Amino acid sequence: MTDPIAFIDLAAQRRRLGSAIDDAVLKVVNHGGYIMGPEVKAFEADLAAFCGARNVVSCANGTDALAMVLMAKGVKPGDAVLCPTFTFAATAEVVAWLGATPVFVDVYEQTFNIDPNSLEGGIKTARRLNLRPVGVIPVDLFGQPADYDTVESICDREGLWMLCDAAQSFGASYKGRQVGTLGLATSTSFFPAKPLGCYGDGGAVFTEDDELAAVMRSIRVHGQGSDKYDNVRIGMNGRLDTMQAAILIEKLKIFPEEIAARHRVAKRYSELLGDVAAVPEVPQGVTSVWAQYTLRLRGLDRETFTADLKAAGVPTAVYYPRPLHEQTAYRAFPTAGNGLPAAERLAQEVVSLPMHPYLTEGIQDRVIAAVKDASMRQRKAAAE
Ligand SMILES: Cc1ncc(COP(=O)(O)O)c(C=O)c1O
Repeated sequence: MTDPIAFIDLAAQRRRLGSAIDDAVLKVVNHGGYIMGPEVKAFEADLAAFCGARNVVSCANGTDALAMVLMAKGVKPGDAVLCPTFTFAATAEVVAWLGATPVFVDVYEQTFNIDPNSLEGGIKTARRLNLRPVGVIPVDLFGQPADYDTVESICDREGLWMLCDAAQSFGASYKGRQVGTLGLATSTSFFPAKPLGCYGDGGAVFTEDDELAAVMRSIRVHGQGSDKYDNVRIGMNGRLDTMQAAILIEKLKIFPEEIAARHRVAKRYSELLGDVAAVPEVPQGVTSVWAQYTLRLRGLDRETFTADLKAAGVPTAVYYPRPLHEQTAYRAFPTAGNGLPAAERLAQEVVSLPMHPYLTEGIQDRVIAAVKDASMRQRKAAAE
């Protein structure tokens, strides 16, 4: 029996970083600045230098990052915020938190990201329902930036802001610009499985808008004014732990190398799997950070396929088995135009393969062979 393959190998990265992490954590334990200690500010400066954003507001997780922007923009009941339906629940959840209405929009099948035609339909749907469209939250699914130029031109025309949900894409780029410098603001997550992950929860917001950043810094600590016992607005406890900031400082140092390694894995997967399944399409001028490497299984039974891979020791995951507009909690919210067929199809077809920077060519070969075997078996059975 060969060794089981990890879907995401956090242990390999832990071995690589070794004492750098131990020392960083111990330093925080000893200096005692557990809440908003010096590492938090230092990490924010490192993030700003990494992506070129003017303001970085770190926070407790990627969900709070989204919420802080919406709260700072004063999103309220009667407002509509347009979100892709093929995403993690947090994207729409924060809209509903504030009593506003998420309006679900379809995605492109080739990139998994928001479809601007459907976005136009969603804006019309919102207005027909007497809702006030205020903003759009494009999501960079699986690490690949959305079609920002087109979405932004619609936002400009319609007077909407654009909040980029880059929970999965920090480290990617769009037409020469790093993720973190697009739209009104960009949110990200440092959940352990994300390309830049910590050892717990963490997140950040990036914005060029100084005023928005100042309001979010206040929201992050219970709407503080001159100090935390001066409450000038409704806020939250949204701080990033100092310990997580210390860990992230070390992880960010090796992040560019890890991104390059992810690119190598994805390139090889795409070269060798393109003839058995639909491989991800990355448009010209865009780079993905490959949070996930996701195939579309055209004409194959997904359950049989994943069972075959599992038998070969290859783990897989399905992101996402149901689009949000079909989820119990979100079913009652409006959808764009005449339905969201691409997302519904994707939910049936997608499967993600092991992806991380420490995936050796030997392990890649095992994954590739298992995918080829599983698809060949089904095609052969269908032909008989
Ligand atoms: C697209 C998307 N948005 C938001 C989030 C929320 O991030 P967090 O889990 O850090 O709250 C996630 C994370 O899983 C995500 O994938």
